[in-house]
Amino acid sequence: MTTPDDDNQIATMTGETSDSVAPAPGTQIWIDGRFVDRSEATISVFDHGLLYGDGCFEGIRIYDGRIFKLRSHVDRLYASAKRIRLEPFYDQDAIEAATREVVERSGLRNGYIRIVLTRGVGTLGLHPFKCERSSAIIIADAISLYPESMYTEGMAVIVAKRPRIPVACLDPQIKSLNYLNNILAKVEAIDAGVLEAIMLNIDGDVAECTGDNIFVVKDGAISTPDLSAGMLNGITRAYVIEEVAPALGYTVDERHHVLDELMQADEIFLTGTAAEIIGVSSIDDVPIGNGSVGPVTTAMVAEFRRRVHEGAPEN
Ligand SMILES: Cc1ncc(COP(=O)(O)O)c(C=O)c1O
Repeated sequence: MTTPDDDNQIATMTGETSDSVAPAPGTQIWIDGRFVDRSEATISVFDHGLLYGDGCFEGIRIYDGRIFKLRSHVDRLYASAKRIRLEPFYDQDAIEAATREVVERSGLRNGYIRIVLTRGVGTLGLHPFKCERSSAIIIADAISLYPESMYTEGMAVIVAKRPRIPVACLDPQIKSLNYLNNILAKVEAIDAGVLEAIMLNIDGDVAECTGDNIFVVKDGAISTPDLSAGMLNGITRAYVIEEVAPALGYTVDERHHVLDELMQADEIFLTGTAAEIIGVSSIDDVPIGNGSVGPVTTAMVAEFRRRVHEGAPEN
């Protein structure tokens, strides 16, 4: 999840209130059924989402007024909720409808949506079921991507020393509010002067990045770590495997990957809702391929962009 609050992904917006006045394009915030101004968009200090990171979330893109893969994101949100035994107050249809309304009111033609489900207000103890009612938050906002030059020249990354949290401890397929494993790997990246880190699992195999999935191109073939490595089942990843790569004549092989294969790759690209598809120029300062963005990645980026702007599928 490369999020729009990343330093070089400046999310700029203006607070917007009012149920009655037609809003200018900008931020819209919905909390538990109410549209609220940015300054009033608050939750309780007793919410376990805040106290314990007990909750789950989604980041979604708006392209030309359409919400990309809304149904898939809401499905994943509710799958995450189920895995942590959180019972959302609103059902999926209600959240989808609210999300559409938030986007409509925002006036944003292109932007980013965050949906959050928190465990809700409880005691200071861990007990999740003492929280009476789960809260839902939906935010629509502007998004600025990485600088365009990064898409043409590639992005330098590192390999994090910190492994991805094992599936047996907290399955990375659960997109929970607890992102410290990723944040600490991201800190390693920032300390090294880059913006993304490859995370290995505790067996030393390639899993994913702090907020993106990974793809490898070697001798004209594309592969990606399979889900058993322990990663978020990315919606952009699935879209690349199922639609974008086949449209360009590629089949993506989902399999086990060791780090050395990445170092020997012709090309590497990352996928994620915010980053979309972005090529990797180097890992730990070692150039990948020719140290720039290769032809397969370039074609993937172009095909992805063409598709999302020419009628992005909503489901
Ligand atoms: C850890 C992690 N991996 C991968 C991804 C990419 O997933 P998606 O394509 O669904 O945004 C994200 C983003 O949500 C993420 O947080």
